[in-house]
Amino acid sequence: INQGNGVKGLSEMGLKALPKQYIQPLEERMCMTNVQTHDSIPIIDMSNLDNLEVTKSICESASKWDFFQIVNHDVPVEVLENVKDATYKFFRLPAEVKNKYSKEHSSSNNMRFGMSFTPQAEKALEWKDYLSLFFVFEEEAFALWPSVCREQVLDYMKKSEVVIKQLLKVLMNGLNLHEIDETKELLLMGSMRTNLNYYPKCPNPELTVGVGQHFDVSTLTILLQDEIGGLFVRRNEGDNWIHVPPIKGSLVINVGDALQIISNGKYRSVEHRVVANGSKNRISVPIFVNPRPIDMIGSFPELIENGEKPIYKQVLYSDYVKHFFRKAHDGKKTVAFVE
Ligand code: SIN
Ligand code: FE2
Repeated sequence: INQGNGVKGLSEMGLKALPKQYIQPLEERMCMTNVQTHDSIPIIDMSNLDNLEVTKSICESASKWDFFQIVNHDVPVEVLENVKDATYKFFRLPAEVKNKYSKEHSSSNNMRFGMSFTPQAEKALEWKDYLSLFFVFEEEAFALWPSVCREQVLDYMKKSEVVIKQLLKVLMNGLNLHEIDETKELLLMGSMRTNLNYYPKCPNPELTVGVGQHFDVSTLTILLQDEIGGLFVRRNEGDNWIHVPPIKGSLVINVGDALQIISNGKYRSVEHRVVANGSKNRISVPIFVNPRPIDMIGSFPELIENGEKPIYKQVLYSDYVKHFFRKAHDGKKTVAFVE
């Protein structure tokens, strides 16, 4: 099959049937009978962070759910709308322009246009195109990132960073850590990566996935999704999946493995997945807030209570990420690597 224009190109060929490379084994497909609707993930109003009740509800949501949406946050709606528009613009570029950012052609490892998750390691591919942008410094972004989206992505990152800082502060306060010094701040939010995801409409959505079951390796992920829907989460293996409904202007927040490690398991990364859609294209724009690749991560000593043992071995964050990317998404927790 011709992948010159990614999965979007395949989708636009008007295929009647899903190419067999995308047919997932049964256990990786979403079965709609495994969806539950009696629970919903919390929605947190960020407009009143000085209010103890509000910060309490954030910590409770975070430790009970580790997955929530925020509304009335400080990222302006225009910034969100602009980054969505820019995402469409990028994916609408001609194949030869997008392919300048592919693994083979990209002028920097920090910038990658691709399909699926780890195509070289996957038995079946995911129905998705993406552009991944690792932020190093602004000059590099201005020089190298695609001009159709760089300003919008930078603006989205910059505005989100403020909100991320607020959330991390609240979450750390919730564990009685009231002083986040520079070293800790670097471990919590020392690097950021933004992905532009494009899930084209799919001829046989029930046979494949947009993104397979996985846990993020970030400290926090902050995600903008459009109005289509299709993101599902579950708290525990064996639980049914819960849909994360699109809410205009909201951002979806989830705890990732790095925060689970740092908090010695007090906050937990949560499994999630994205289904493919038979009638509509979907986009999402996650920001992965991470430690720096060069940092050793482990539980903060202040977060290990008296008598408790650290659950995880110290690990170089880049090794942790490498471990995550060595195989396909299959729902298994990467965190087992350091247990
Ligand atoms: C992901 O978790 O990789 C993507 C989530 C989404 O597109 O909603
Ligand atoms: Fe994810």
